[in-house]
Amino acid sequence: MIWGICVLRIDKLTKRFGANAAVENVSITIEGSAMIGVIGASGAGKSTLLRMINRLADASEGAIWYQDREVTHLTGKAKRQWQSECAMIFQQFNLVPRMDVVSNVLHGTLNRRSTLATLFNLYPTEDIHRAIDILDRLGIAENAPKRAEALSGGQQQRVAIARALMQDPKIILADEPIASLDPMNAQIVMDALRRIHDEDGRMVIANLHTLDTARRYCDRVIGMRKGRVVFDGTPEQLTTGVARDIYGAGAEFSEATTSTDIAALEAGREALPA
Ligand SMILES: Nc1ncnc2c1ncn2[C@@H]1O[C@H](COP(=O)(O)OP(=O)(O)O)[C@@H](O)[C@H]1O
Ligand SMILES: [Mg+2]
Repeated sequence: MIWGICVLRIDKLTKRFGANAAVENVSITIEGSAMIGVIGASGAGKSTLLRMINRLADASEGAIWYQDREVTHLTGKAKRQWQSECAMIFQQFNLVPRMDVVSNVLHGTLNRRSTLATLFNLYPTEDIHRAIDILDRLGIAENAPKRAEALSGGQQQRVAIARALMQDPKIILADEPIASLDPMNAQIVMDALRRIHDEDGRMVIANLHTLDTARRYCDRVIGMRKGRVVFDGTPEQLTTGVARDIYGAGAEFSEATTSTDIAALEAGREALPA
């Protein structure tokens, strides 16, 4: 390992639910501050993979390393520390709807605050200033006092990104961050993630539901099918033939397949439970 370069190493990772392997023997090494897109049909194992990295789910076999630390079996404080280093963003934003925006963002500091301070909603002034600065960076500072539920989906997802940044994470894990957004807001949110990656050098791993988004925003694309990695390469290498392999033989892609066709194909699976 080279010091100073962030390395996330996933080694022969498997997750079983009963007889079904959601993720099977997955090995991926990510060096530096890459922006990675993970694509694949519904049930391919994308969410389970991210959840294992963040330790929301435990691996059945294999290991996850970050730098020189194995994070696969961390417990207690060490596990919470790791979870604050790899912030998670969800399709449904997971904000507290009735709470104001700035308090939602300040929730990103929960891991390092005392129970008493949390109980009484006491936040240091410097944290409040930082939360507003982050909201400002994402172009939504004027919404700071509003209830989260009063914001549009695109604004709510930016609040979720602000909450993640409040943790000052090394890695941002985004599970279909734009799947609930209209195209304009999807672009704003993806632009924000890309900018955070470029400016801060944070590693971003995003499960994405359209090939186009992965191609446009990511340096590297990982294709999953039935729990396994079936493609790992650059957007340029992600040809129509490769897309067919990733999404399965039933998926009809011609050279003339448009992004709209693929989006329609993928939309079918979006109706399925996550
Ligand atoms: N908590 C769970 N219990 C049982 N099976 C699960 C659970 N979570 C996911 N699975 C199964 O694991 C497989 C992968 O799911 P998931 O990681 O959600 O895929 P994706 O995010 O690519 O749609 C699916 O077959 C799904 O039904
Ligand atoms: Mg999923």
